[in-house]
Amino acid sequence: MKDYTIAPSLLAADFARLGEEAAMVLAAGADMLHFDVMDNHYVPNLTFGPLVCRALRNFGITAPIDVHLMTTSVDSLIPLFAEAGASIITFHPDAVIHIDRTISYIKSFGIKAGLVLNPATPTGILEYTIASCDIILCMSVNPGFGGQAFIPYVLDKITRVRELIEKSGRSVMLEVDGGISTSNIGQVAQAGADTFVAGSAIFGSGDYAATISAMRHSLDFLKR
Ligand code: DX5
Ligand code: ZN
Repeated sequence: MKDYTIAPSLLAADFARLGEEAAMVLAAGADMLHFDVMDNHYVPNLTFGPLVCRALRNFGITAPIDVHLMTTSVDSLIPLFAEAGASIITFHPDAVIHIDRTISYIKSFGIKAGLVLNPATPTGILEYTIASCDIILCMSVNPGFGGQAFIPYVLDKITRVRELIEKSGRSVMLEVDGGISTSNIGQVAQAGADTFVAGSAIFGSGDYAATISAMRHSLDFLKR
């Protein structure tokens, strides 16, 4: 039986009450927190960095924190996020020069490492990297903003990445990020994903627990 991970994106939370929001969404049934780092260079938007991640740990958050770096500077942020309590760090391979070295650098801190594929990024980049990745993140929107519509052609890519993971014989998480809601999460899982980021669908709903359990219900249906 497959294990599914639901990761609310803090990008859609109320930043003035971030600790409380994180605690609330975990109490509502989330498995981990997705932490979107945007630098106003790799993407037009600007969000938060390692100090905010550390503040969540100091607030008492013990759940895994999944740091998604949408930054052109990657290597210099790795030790800072290690110190800040990150559990996973994913980065966009088009943002770094030495992909293999960056993956090893993340893992040297005991943190899970992975690559992020933008919607139009081909899967070929995984040929020599899947053997060292703990997670592959398929973007189902162009990165930079929450609340965008899911791009349907990414479903085929998710299936292709699932095939590559199976072929590698390794246990690699397959995460999807962007436009995921209660109405399409089942389809995304059916395509091959096991880890689901959802920002506006969860934080924009009046009842976090009801939304997460509706998502869980669609996934449970697939397990049978
Ligand atoms: C977009 C971010 C996403 C974003 C998803 O660049 O990487 O994690 O928060 O938001 P929704 O779920 O609203 O599409
Ligand atoms: Zn993200």
